[in-house]
Amino acid sequence: MPDEKLLHTPVMLHEVIDYLKTSPGQIIVDATAGTGGHSLEILKRITPGGRLIAIDRDEDSLAICRKRLNEFKNSCEFVHSNFADLDQVLDKLGIKEIDGIVFDLGISSYQLKDAQRGFSFQEEGPLDMRLDRSSYISAYDLINNLNENEISHLLWSFGQERWHNRIAHLLVEERRNQPISTTTQLANLVMRAIPYRYRKSYYRIHPATRTFQAVRIAVNRELEILESSITKAVAILKKQARICVISFHSLEDRVIKHTFRALKADGLIDIITSKPLIPGAGEIDRNPSSRSSKFRVAERL
Ligand SMILES: C[S@@+](CC[C@H](N)C(=O)[O-])C[C@H]1O[C@@H](n2cnc3c(N)ncnc32)[C@H](O)[C@@H]1O
Repeated sequence: MPDEKLLHTPVMLHEVIDYLKTSPGQIIVDATAGTGGHSLEILKRITPGGRLIAIDRDEDSLAICRKRLNEFKNSCEFVHSNFADLDQVLDKLGIKEIDGIVFDLGISSYQLKDAQRGFSFQEEGPLDMRLDRSSYISAYDLINNLNENEISHLLWSFGQERWHNRIAHLLVEERRNQPISTTTQLANLVMRAIPYRYRKSYYRIHPATRTFQAVRIAVNRELEILESSITKAVAILKKQARICVISFHSLEDRVIKHTFRALKADGLIDIITSKPLIPGAGEIDRNPSSRSSKFRVAERL
């Protein structure tokens, strides 16, 4: 069993389990298996006879997941892949239809806590932020190669960062002297770019939060693949099977809402949660990183 402290606490676990309507013998896909929190509870409910397809883009997380779910290894396939390739993954496994699918988007606390991954502005680490470390473009590449307009646009479109122009300007000035190569360098630079009087009052969160979110989304092309991935997932759901999606910021939630609406208009799904569900006060107390999560569910017609 992996070190408990490394494991990510699954968000809205009870809700996911309830809405998925799991039962023994089902085939369920966990499209973002992470360290296996949702997967484990799903496996307990679909075995005996069921099968879980645990997908993650991050090999390190998948290795932890594999160890954690060892007792269910005969009922589980671990697949290192992007969920954007869901159709190919299932094709290779010979699976034509599934009984449910979960997407729990973004990154896990396991990834966030590892300074070497470069996701956290609180610890010194290389500017990496790749979910899949075999992919080519890292945060370092974007931050040091995009021009000022491109950086500014990126910070606005993926982070809705109010000071996008100022941050992009300072960044380009700074990198003339030396490349921006660490997380703390970037975080300090963002801090300096924001006018002094706004540093505390405007941001209830750390001022670098939006910049880090924006760069991570761009590095991993997280928003681009969302609509097509959800559409692919719906296409392989059995009738009355459900798709559950947890998102962590308004940009993602908007894509999910619009994709669900379009699929409903095409007569493919019924939307079960007219408004997204959010975690209760108890869960937020126990796991503060759940506070921004939104949960949407749809059912195949
Ligand atoms: C919030 S965590 C999931 C945590 C998981 N539900 C658990 O209980 O441990 C999100 C996970 O999704 C993975 N991920 C993000 N985008 C992905 C994609 N496009 N394809 C596959 N995995 C992805 C990340 O690597 C990360 O491990």
